[in-house]
Amino acid sequence: SMITKKTNTIGLVIPDIRNPFFPELVRGVEDVANNAQYTVFLCNTDSSHRKETDYLTIMKEKNVDGIIFSGPQETQSKEFYQTVQEYEIPVVLLDRGQENRDFGGVYIDNEKAGYLATKHLLELSHRKIGCITGPANIPNSNERFKGYTKALSEFQVPIDDSIIITGNYLMEGGYQAAKTLLKEKDVTAIFAFNDLMAFGVYQAAVELGINIPNDLSVVGFDNLTYNQLLIPKLTTIEQSAYKMGEIAATMLFDQINNKNISKEQVFMEPKLIINGSTKEFS
Ligand code: RIB
Repeated sequence: SMITKKTNTIGLVIPDIRNPFFPELVRGVEDVANNAQYTVFLCNTDSSHRKETDYLTIMKEKNVDGIIFSGPQETQSKEFYQTVQEYEIPVVLLDRGQENRDFGGVYIDNEKAGYLATKHLLELSHRKIGCITGPANIPNSNERFKGYTKALSEFQVPIDDSIIITGNYLMEGGYQAAKTLLKEKDVTAIFAFNDLMAFGVYQAAVELGINIPNDLSVVGFDNLTYNQLLIPKLTTIEQSAYKMGEIAATMLFDQINNKNISKEQVFMEPKLIINGSTKEFS
């Protein structure tokens, strides 16, 4: 039997509780769970494979009725699939893990988002567009990168590896990468694959006396609430983290209540939010 004893609890695994993107996501899940009279066990993994595995085991021991999992490491492994299958527990992947088609999940269309962000800069006549990616092992970053290269090739701009830097989705990583891009390369624009790294770009620009948007255009990704505080406000991609959480929770409860395992993958439409950090290059 799939579930023997209901506990009215679900597990929610996220990679980085300090990134303001994830609390939004958590709220979306929690609101739906709370309405359904469920309690959420929240686990933070720091993207550590060991923590992901351990939490999976603990949640099983606690007999949670389902798990929402925001990878990245474990969802890419065969072991994850096997473990979850053995547990016979409903799972929905969220935000990270889109390459794993064995489970239902909720994601933004990351490739399209990367494309829209880059195309916006190209349309503003930028040609030297530095790129700060997420960690190499996170598929949503690779998808965003596909979008970046697709837009460049559409505008016949050659891909320049020397202005592509692997970041880490943290502010400090954005700061370090921007320092390199701004000191050693003459980029006129930077596309950072999340807003936290874009914040780091702002910090580097301030230190180097580079004006955004007059000397440098910046595009981020996530549309965090804190963008409102930046001067100028950041042009970015809207991800609707709260809504993604709501949808994932609704999908999970559907599996729990109807005892039907679904592998449906939902891809949300990305939206480019144009603010003051991007300007025509002249
Ligand atoms: O800011 C964190 C990033 O990692 C987001 O863009 C989100 O998609 C997550 O995977």
